Amino acid sequence: MSDPKHDNNDGDRQSELGHGTTGHVWDGIEEWDNPMPRWWVWTFYITIIWAVGYTIAYPAWPMINSATAGLLGYSTRAEVAQDIAAAEEANAEINTRLASTDMVEIEADQELNAYAVSAGAAVFRTWCAQCHGSGAAGAKGYPNLLDDDWLWGGDVEAIHTTVAHGIRNEDDDDARYSEMPAFGRDEILEAEQIDEVVNFVMSLSGDPQDASMVEAGAEVFADNCAACHMEDGTGDRDQGAPNLADAIWLYGGDYDTLVETVTNSRFGVMPAWQTRLTEAQVRAVTAYVHQLGGGE
Ligand code: HEC
Ligand code: HEC
Repeated sequence: MSDPKHDNNDGDRQSELGHGTTGHVWDGIEEWDNPMPRWWVWTFYITIIWAVGYTIAYPAWPMINSATAGLLGYSTRAEVAQDIAAAEEANAEINTRLASTDMVEIEADQELNAYAVSAGAAVFRTWCAQCHGSGAAGAKGYPNLLDDDWLWGGDVEAIHTTVAHGIRNEDDDDARYSEMPAFGRDEILEAEQIDEVVNFVMSLSGDPQDASMVEAGAEVFADNCAACHMEDGTGDRDQGAPNLADAIWLYGGDYDTLVETVTNSRFGVMPAWQTRLTEAQVRAVTAYVHQLGGGE
């Protein structure tokens, strides 16, 4: 018997089996050399012809700055633009209604309010979440919009003004504006006085770091801070001066953070949205923020 591993003798095997072998043998299993079935070969040729036709009909070949457009002139981008235009047209009527209905009356109009809140949620995810967080819970320096602690006011009209014009920005003359003095940097208060007033502020909502300073701090507060934060420290919305007595902090209520705030002040900025969004979008996101839980 011949050794199968070396059985490469095509000629002899062909006459015996009716076809050749490629000469490959593995563990005694031979690879036969049958021609491809006709139908398969023809299908293969057709796919080549189809591919050439396709690249002529549709956008295909990349060039330096673009691609061949294709004889049919089809474009996925144009299709998306068409879909967007169709969606805008479908919403045009309700958007006009939203932009022209009095802010305080939107909530009473069930259909309009439902549309505003869901459109507003989409606006929020796109334009607001990077600062206020996707759940609107805020972060250091960026207020939580879920609670009922408002810097500038929490009724729909106040929120609308804040969103439309922004806060302390340069692109809108009607932006909300106020400026807490930098008491340390501008040498309005001595380090000792800052220490005292910070201990007083801590005493408003919890425990001061040094209780012996609170009394002196109360005096510093009355002279320097009460004009904006009010005598009792509950703040003033007309000036966006936060309530310092509620244990809710925009920047932080620990000793070091408070010293930093009083020494250098903060000056939080929010862009104006009326120039970036349509009036309907501003109203929609206002309605969305208002119903988040803290709306007044
Ligand atoms: C670039 C960051 C940034 C973006 C983006 C941003 N905000 Fe603000 N927002 C702020 C800051 C900072 C404040 C607080 C400013 C201050 O200290 O008074 C604020 C305050 C607010 C307030 C006032 C809260 C209060 O307590 O009175 C509202 C309402 C608000 N933002 C809504 C929005 C909405 C709606 C959007 C999206 C259309 C948005 N913000 C996008 C930074 C941002
Ligand atoms: C002219 C008005 C004004 C005066 C005076 C003022 N503040 Fe403020 N204060 C503000 C405003 C507005 C903010 C909001 C922060 C910002 O600018 O982003 C603020 C913020 C703060 C905060 C941060 C609160 C938080 O939630 O993190 C503290 C603390 C504070 N002020 C303490 C003081 C103390 C203490 C004094 C007096 C020594 C003082 N302020 C005087 C307007 C004022």
